[in-house]
Amino acid sequence: MNKLIIHAELTKGRICKDIQGQFSEHLGRCIYGGVYVGEQSDIPNENGMRKDVVQALRDIHLPVLRWPGGCFADEYHWKDGIGPKETRKKMVNTHWGGVTEDNSFGTHEFFELCRQIGCDAYITGNVGSGTVQEMNEWVEYMTFEGVSPMADLRRQNGHADAWKVAYFGVGNEPWGCGGNMTAEYYANEYRRYQTYIRQYRPDARIYKVAAGSNGSDFHWTEVLMKNAGRMMDGLSMHYYTIPHSWEKKGSALNFTAADYYETLKNALYIEQLIRRHSAIMDQYDPEKRVGLIVDEWGTWFDVEEGTNPGFLYQQNSMRDAMVAALSLNVFNQHCDRVHMANIAQLVNVLQAMILTEGPRMLCTPTYYAFRLFRDHQENQLLDSHLIASDFTAEGITLPSLQESSSLAPDGTVHVTLVNPALDQGQELEISLQGMRAASVSGEILTGEMDAHNTFDCPDAVKNVPFTGFALADGGLKVTLPACSIVHLAIH
Ligand code: AHR
Repeated sequence: MNKLIIHAELTKGRICKDIQGQFSEHLGRCIYGGVYVGEQSDIPNENGMRKDVVQALRDIHLPVLRWPGGCFADEYHWKDGIGPKETRKKMVNTHWGGVTEDNSFGTHEFFELCRQIGCDAYITGNVGSGTVQEMNEWVEYMTFEGVSPMADLRRQNGHADAWKVAYFGVGNEPWGCGGNMTAEYYANEYRRYQTYIRQYRPDARIYKVAAGSNGSDFHWTEVLMKNAGRMMDGLSMHYYTIPHSWEKKGSALNFTAADYYETLKNALYIEQLIRRHSAIMDQYDPEKRVGLIVDEWGTWFDVEEGTNPGFLYQQNSMRDAMVAALSLNVFNQHCDRVHMANIAQLVNVLQAMILTEGPRMLCTPTYYAFRLFRDHQENQLLDSHLIASDFTAEGITLPSLQESSSLAPDGTVHVTLVNPALDQGQELEISLQGMRAASVSGEILTGEMDAHNTFDCPDAVKNVPFTGFALADGGLKVTLPACSIVHLAIH
């Protein structure tokens, strides 16, 4: 019998809500059509933002949103996206499909979106093709409350109050699309640029994020921590889950059981990456002041047939939900170092929460996985020990169960469990130390590995109440079906 021992009185640190953050780039139909349709659209909107999408994001308590890129950020000049829309400069989105960007969604629109969702803003600045002055002025424009050229310009453009910028990223992927720099060169650039990200608001300090490594580039982390560690609050890392190789990513829906297990194995590799990057960070920052910011993660498959290859539009199945749940459990378990994570991306791009087609929208299995994790936000991670053996299927070995547990301020213990096996349920005995379970409620997401939602059938995969548990001796006996994610709230 599998066993989970949870020490309800042994807390291990705060699970920052921002671990459940998201990423929205000017890429394909993420911004345009996905969240922003403009005030004149027939699609119900508030100040141009789709009401259906905003409501769905409110429902999962989306805590923080990264914008405007990605690769787009290092070609984005923020002044092109302010002022009257008819006079805003157009540009070519060279990274993503070569389409014309009309800049109708800019700084004011982004903060309006965050206001409607009720989330914090994570802005990524342009290092690759921008200047220190441009970045400095953007920060002044967004956050300075007094009289200054940029604050006055903001007022002239209709926004009297300064906004709160929770996080500011100094460039994106400088080792690639953000300028093809070496770690040493970027570390110097980071030191210079971050100097001019002024903290204008003592009540809303900006958390500065240095652009981090591509997956397992540990040298990058070493150099950044050594040369610039004391000047940053966070250091990022990007890691995408692909089944086999970048050349053989395969379809988001037509895949085999071997592809499924390979994808999950690769998703779990993120834990090794976090451990190894954290170990390097520990050498320079043993107090764990600097956060590891996983600001791009998620699945990357072939684009859906017939769609623009530059738009990265992919469907989303139970396999994606499993990747999300496994990753979120890993982030929870490493909340001492992981302060924020941003899945790529919000709508219509890569591992999206939401897909839209004209006026229609659907929530993906990944969306429902996030919903199951919602109640961990801002809780204390609990010390927990899972005794469960590994299993091997299609030649791939995986843990037969995975979990994280947290304590909410009201005393409720929240547990999220994942059973990755496609053809085997699991029995689990949960023993609670320092607490007796008086009542339990649960929700589950389960289905075939390729189960997904379509615009004609948007509710095929969704969370339903979970009843596969029984109270026993102050603890619990749980039965998890194959390919399932379960959230338990234990009171
Ligand atoms: O999320 C898509 C792209 O992947 C981002 O623009 C870039 O940062 C990464 O390579």
